[in-house]
Amino acid sequence: MILETIEVGGCRSYLVGCPKTFVAAVIDPEISAIERYRGLASRHGLSIRFAIDTHTHADHFTGAREIAHALGAKVVMSHVSPAPFVDIKLDDGDMLRVGDMRITAMSTPGHTADSTCLLIEDHVFTGDTLLIGGTGRTDLPTGDPDQLYDSLFGRLLELDPATHVHPAHEYKGRSGTTIGEEIRTNPRLQKTGRAEFVEMMRSLDLKAPTHLTEALRVNMSGAKSVAQTLAEAAAAVPFISIEELSRRIAARQNDLVVLDVREKDLFDAGHIAGATWLPRGQLELRVNEVFPDPTIRIVAVCEFGKISTLAAATLRSLGYLHAAALDGGMNTWREANLGVEA
Ligand SMILES: [Fe+2]
Repeated sequence: MILETIEVGGCRSYLVGCPKTFVAAVIDPEISAIERYRGLASRHGLSIRFAIDTHTHADHFTGAREIAHALGAKVVMSHVSPAPFVDIKLDDGDMLRVGDMRITAMSTPGHTADSTCLLIEDHVFTGDTLLIGGTGRTDLPTGDPDQLYDSLFGRLLELDPATHVHPAHEYKGRSGTTIGEEIRTNPRLQKTGRAEFVEMMRSLDLKAPTHLTEALRVNMSGAKSVAQTLAEAAAAVPFISIEELSRRIAARQNDLVVLDVREKDLFDAGHIAGATWLPRGQLELRVNEVFPDPTIRIVAVCEFGKISTLAAATLRSLGYLHAAALDGGMNTWREANLGVEA
């Protein structure tokens, strides 16, 4: 098996390939690493056919759908997973053929109801069911410590002790563990009685992961994250630097309109001299009366440079083909002492 481990923050994902047929799968792809998977696949001459999520992640954004879309691969998850964009749903024991390689699904609910471990030869990809020196938490939506106990002690830990373990998280850079090693040294696996284990899991009192609700919403629906929405808008519009805008205004060229899309109190407190005010919330409804000429050069401005990017993208989509956004916001404009009028 060709195996590459990709780390993004504390999240681990894997590229696994068949060395004879050069067909491959990615396991738990993260959306920001898509170009890395493609690059690694190219380096090995692999063609990615499957993007497999071991469970509905609550702490990062899945890249499965984007990979599938970009490469013509299939999205694979458990039959319990709610995401509507899954092409192949696996039951316990189902097997995927990846060239001459076989990936077998082992249903291991507990961290989430749809948690699935993936077996390839003497390797197991455990998602968040079993981590190095830990286990996944059971206090997030669909988590259940009783089920995790059964999945670990009744299933996963029954595998050959020599089986290599590859988790979906590792925060300390460790690798090279096995089922046997974890049974011996993993502190959570020393509570071998059900009641004791469940009590331990219930008393962990962990902080909720950042982006919890957003990650669940995006991963369950296949919709966009806020960061993706902003990135798509930023890719669709040109920007003007603060210095360039300042220079043009100073040159008194009457060839552009500065459009301030902030709320009224912020606009009144200080805006670029001569700016037109039309808040983002009213943009589509009032744009016709405010800008009758669609060929006008509009530079959208907001407080931090994000809402103005969305506004400029909206204006472009409405046919204002010379709309641009300020690269930065009024906060940086003020810091640069470029002058405001109230
Ligand atoms: Fe997880």
